[in-house]
Formats: sequence, C-alpha cells, structure tokens
Amino acid sequence: MRQLIAGNWKMFGRLTDVTPFAEAMRAAPAHVDLLVCPPFTLLERFATALEGGQMALGAQNCHANPQGAHTGDIAAPMLVDAGAAYVILGHSERRNDHGENNAVIRAKTESAIAAGLIPIVCVGETEGEREAGEAEHVVRSQLQHSLPPGFAGVVAYEPVWAIGTGRTPTEDDVKSMHAAIRAALAAQLGQDGAKIRILYGGSVKPGNAASLLALPEVGGALVGGASLKAEDFLAIANAA
Ligand code: G3P
Repeated sequence: MRQLIAGNWKMFGRLTDVTPFAEAMRAAPAHVDLLVCPPFTLLERFATALEGGQMALGAQNCHANPQGAHTGDIAAPMLVDAGAAYVILGHSERRNDHGENNAVIRAKTESAIAAGLIPIVCVGETEGEREAGEAEHVVRSQLQHSLPPGFAGVVAYEPVWAIGTGRTPTEDDVKSMHAAIRAALAAQLGQDGAKIRILYGGSVKPGNAASLLALPEVGGALVGGASLKAEDFLAIANAA
C-alpha cells in the first residue's frame, strides 16, 4: 500500500501561503500520496494551485447534515464543491474544543462518505488513559463507535499527549497500537478492514519520520506543525 503523508494545517495559513506551498510540493517524491488539509478559507485557492499535481486536498471538519440552518458550519457537499477530496473528522482538538463524541463523529463520517469524500477518522488516548493501561481499550471503543458499517476511509492514530508536544510513543507502542487497530478493523469490517490505511500522527518531524513510517501497519503520517513548512513536509514525504 502506498503511504499517505497528510498535512493538517489546523487554524494556520493565509491566502498568500498557498501558491508557494503548492509550487514547492511539485518537487515531492512520486512514490507517496500527499494531502494538505488547510482551513476552509484556503480550500478553493488550494484547489486551483494544486491542479495537475500529485497533492490532494482535504478539509478539517464537516457538519453531519448536507445543508441546513447551522450558522458557522460547513457541510460535506460544500467541501466537495470547493475542491476537497478528503476530510479529517474526530480530531482530538474537535473532540475537546467542541465536545464531539463518537456518535457525532460517526454521523459526520456518514455524511462525508455520502458526499463522496474520503474521511480520515482520528482516534487516540490521553496521557492519563495510557498511564492507566487503557490506551488500546479507549482506541478500540472509539473505532467501534465512530466508524459506520462498511467504513471506507482512513484511520489516524494520534495519541493526544503526542500532539504538538515533541513527544512520541516508543516504536513498540506504535507497533502494538497499530496492530490492535488493524485487528479491530478486521473484526468490524471483515476483509475490507485490511484495505484501510492507518496513519500515525503526533509530533511527526523530519527527524523521526523515517523510523515511524517504517513500522508495520503504519500507512502514512498525519502531520500538524511540520506540515506548515514546505521544506519540512517534503522531508517527511521523502522519508516515507
Ligand atoms: O493532526 C495532526 C496533529 O494533531 C499532530 O500535530 O503538530 O504534533 O504534528 P503535530
């Protein structure tokens, strides 16, 4: 399976950042799939700037309904309209900042799939849950309750305590969590579970990307801070 190197720009970026970043991505290696998920305001500009290149475009959230009276929200068909092919759902920052639970994430995932988007559903334990020996249990439960039957998309394992902290799990912990996720996907989705890419996210940098991406069942990376600099993001893509 080709690896997917995805950038989550979170709430960063201006219109003037788009063209230089998109142009820099033309130097990316051909053996990886690349994706950038900027804020909504940059989607359309990115869609134009990425035309003809290998980098795909995604968003960072959508509403569960395809349209309606929901001030300040964005529906999945609107993301398609703006040029997105992917959407990140269930990021821990959404779970924390907006109280999104597994049921909400599942409804959003269904809406994204219905609109033709590829959802990237994020799961991951907090530091307290890991210390309590609950990490795999928490992640299995998130998968069970946030993925709809017949889920076809991407899963991202992002330990909450590794996001933006410069800390990463040990290689053994990444290996065992990704193996547990693969087993859970097989139990939930049958043979189709084997086709799901499982990304690792949380403090991925040029310096640790090669070792993380070489681990079994790591199908790519979901990169936050280091995706904002074209040079760092390219270095991560080259490490895949
Ligand atoms: O979605 C990616 C993210 O949560 C990881 O962020 O800055 O630790 O790479 P960062």
